[in-house]
Amino acid sequence: MTNNKLAPDHLLELDNVNVHFPLREGVVKAVNGVSYHVKPGEVLGIVGESGSGKSVTARSIMRLQPKQALNAGGTIRFRRRSGEEVLISAEDRQSRTMRDLRGNEIGMIFQEPMTALSPVHTIGTQIMRTVMLHRKVSKQDARARAIELLTRVQMPRPHDIVDRYPHHLSGGMRQRAMIALALACDPTLLIADEPTTALDVTTEAQILHLLKSLQQELGMAIIFITHNFGVVADIADRVAVMYLGRVVETGTVDEIFYAPKHAYTQALLRSIPRLGGQKARRLKTISGSVPDPFNVPQGCSFHPRCMRAVAGICNGEEPPEVIFETGQMARCHFPRDIRVEAAE
Ligand SMILES: Nc1ncnc2c1ncn2[C@@H]1O[C@H](COP(=O)(O)OP(=O)(O)O)[C@@H](O)[C@H]1O
Ligand SMILES: [Mg+2]
Repeated sequence: MTNNKLAPDHLLELDNVNVHFPLREGVVKAVNGVSYHVKPGEVLGIVGESGSGKSVTARSIMRLQPKQALNAGGTIRFRRRSGEEVLISAEDRQSRTMRDLRGNEIGMIFQEPMTALSPVHTIGTQIMRTVMLHRKVSKQDARARAIELLTRVQMPRPHDIVDRYPHHLSGGMRQRAMIALALACDPTLLIADEPTTALDVTTEAQILHLLKSLQQELGMAIIFITHNFGVVADIADRVAVMYLGRVVETGTVDEIFYAPKHAYTQALLRSIPRLGGQKARRLKTISGSVPDPFNVPQGCSFHPRCMRAVAGICNGEEPPEVIFETGQMARCHFPRDIRVEAAE
């Protein structure tokens, strides 16, 4: 297992990652055998309803997990700028390597910018600190870099904002400041965990557009996490769909949107409100609700909500990963194409 190397064209690889929360009420298997990979410069969208394990997985890549989290197996590998491989899954939160990687080679942005920004330091100071922590530069150069980054994220009046505190800024501007901070050292991987979820529709579109153009300009890979399927279509090259701690389908954005094979992906697609021209249709929700994480259903964990579930199979055995010729994968006993439009 530990002899497995990163595939030559992979930047990051998760292989059978498990993260558990042992609680008094039972064990929550928040991440249950998750595997995915990211190539340099590509955007991987991670989609799934709230509670599916998207954030816990992302935080284990950064080794920024809650204290109670138990790493219950699996490997996470990352290729450094130097070409050297790091077995992240064997690192501690405070290891030298992780402190080197975070903020330098891997950046992270969140739904709530104040998770990343300190309220008691100016925007400029925070960016300068990150730059000076990882690069041998003078204070003056670091300040110039901060202004350059603020300009790059299209912050209005960057020369003024550099000396402001986060509470002086609007929500959208804080989001831009957090992006500038995450990009301070030109990371090769940016993890974006629901970065637009708390924003109004107009600001969301602006931030998405910004991330897309920064990605094209700077060429970093992005893991873009969202519960909103509509958003991934805009930004992702490939998509991984998560449900109850598992990846249930992966494919290119076209495969996932035009030829989804897993009933859960199909149901999520049907729940996207249609935009443009006509009034948005009433949002269809998936029947049933996400089960209690302490009592994950036997067999395929989606079977109680699945219209295609076959008794005796889907409620009995865990489905295999079915891989199609194109590389698309569905973890389902009966994967099949359904015309999502026709199913309406
Ligand atoms: N600190 C924690 N203690 C206990 N359970 C947690 C903790 N953090 C997350 N979980 C549980 O792990 C599961 C996955 O959570 P999360 O990764 O945050 O989901 P998502 O980001 O997809 O909404 C959920 O059932 C959640 O309740
Ligand atoms: Mg989350």
